[in-house]
Amino acid sequence: MRSIDELDVKGRRVLVRVDFNVPLAQDADGALVVADDTRLVAALTTIEELRARGARLVLVSHLGRPEGRRVQRLSMAPVAARLRELTRSQVTLAPAVVGEEVSELAEQLRDGEILLLENVRFEGGEERNDPELARALAELAELYVDDAFGAAHRAHASTEGVAHLLPSAAGRLLEREVRTLAGILEHPRHPLVAIIGGAKVADKIAVIDRFLELADMLMIGGAMCFPFLCAQGHAVGESLCDEQDTEHARRALAKASERRPGGAYARVQLPVDLVIGDRLAEDAAHRVLDGVDVPDGWMGLDIGPKTAERYGQEIARAGTIFWNGPMGAFELAPFAAGTRAIAEAVAAADALTVVGGGDSAAALAQFGLEGTVDHLSTGGGATLELVEGNVLPGVQALEGAGAAQR
Ligand code: 3PG
Repeated sequence: MRSIDELDVKGRRVLVRVDFNVPLAQDADGALVVADDTRLVAALTTIEELRARGARLVLVSHLGRPEGRRVQRLSMAPVAARLRELTRSQVTLAPAVVGEEVSELAEQLRDGEILLLENVRFEGGEERNDPELARALAELAELYVDDAFGAAHRAHASTEGVAHLLPSAAGRLLEREVRTLAGILEHPRHPLVAIIGGAKVADKIAVIDRFLELADMLMIGGAMCFPFLCAQGHAVGESLCDEQDTEHARRALAKASERRPGGAYARVQLPVDLVIGDRLAEDAAHRVLDGVDVPDGWMGLDIGPKTAERYGQEIARAGTIFWNGPMGAFELAPFAAGTRAIAEAVAAADALTVVGGGDSAAALAQFGLEGTVDHLSTGGGATLELVEGNVLPGVQALEGAGAAQR
């Protein structure tokens, strides 16, 4: 991938694709505000560097899934407001994505100034990767920088299409994400320990499969563990567990028990105890279950203390750690201890620590540990797809000798 070092940006308009798809919330007056600005902060390195080099920035992002319609509650206005605070500068919000008025605003930009386009998914052509929209976006600028790692798995007009129409390069965030994630997969310091939690095996089966091949240890937690426990013949009570997930889990366990050419698959660790509740609620009846056979009428909502201790010991021995997905319903106090213990163990580990996915990031933030890991990925689906070994269209479009010269 070309980097922004290879672009001469002074006095030129640069279209920068960022991933400002952030959660919004209402403030006390009912106005929409950015609830979590992690993705904005992560894009500042590229934004500030380009501004310092005299670039005129046209920022573009999606927000939510308005499906080609102008949905007022998905306007970029709250994002523009937060960006003004973070950059301590004027950020002009364009009235639309493209069009005459937007072109004029782009042309009026002076060195170091920022124009933020409206939500690019207000245009139906974005998700269709419509060449017309890509061309209209390209006409707003002379150069293109893609820093939207979180959207790099989408072949859309603003992530893929436009990259073919302008001299293009990867921003600092995109570069760092790809380098770090590829690095832990290709040259990890062993032992490589993967901790996979979350709800559905089906969503992460390809990631589990990849880590069976690459990692030394694969530890499963969260609702993800019940299809595995079910596949081993345990009772799961009312825990989340469907037949398809159980089949996926059965296959993963079968693979883990085989020898692979030239070595072994990762050892799979499953919980040995659980915290169970009678329902998913803050005031649910709950208790520690010593074992993993969940009685009828109860559901597993967190890993238990023995499991957390065992997982913690493996984490302490790791050379590299990849963590994706919480260990339980951590947003509810009775079921937060397992995720907290894992977060603390990861924070304390003498290893390269990489955390991916919004839920794990939210868990780190809840426990005040967000600054403790080496790399907190801004991608959700993009991180998983990269780990699975898939080519990301947004990254591929920036590759090849011609990317910066087009
Ligand atoms: C994300 O939040 O994962 C990215 O911004 C992509 O959003 P999408 O799933 O709506 O394409």
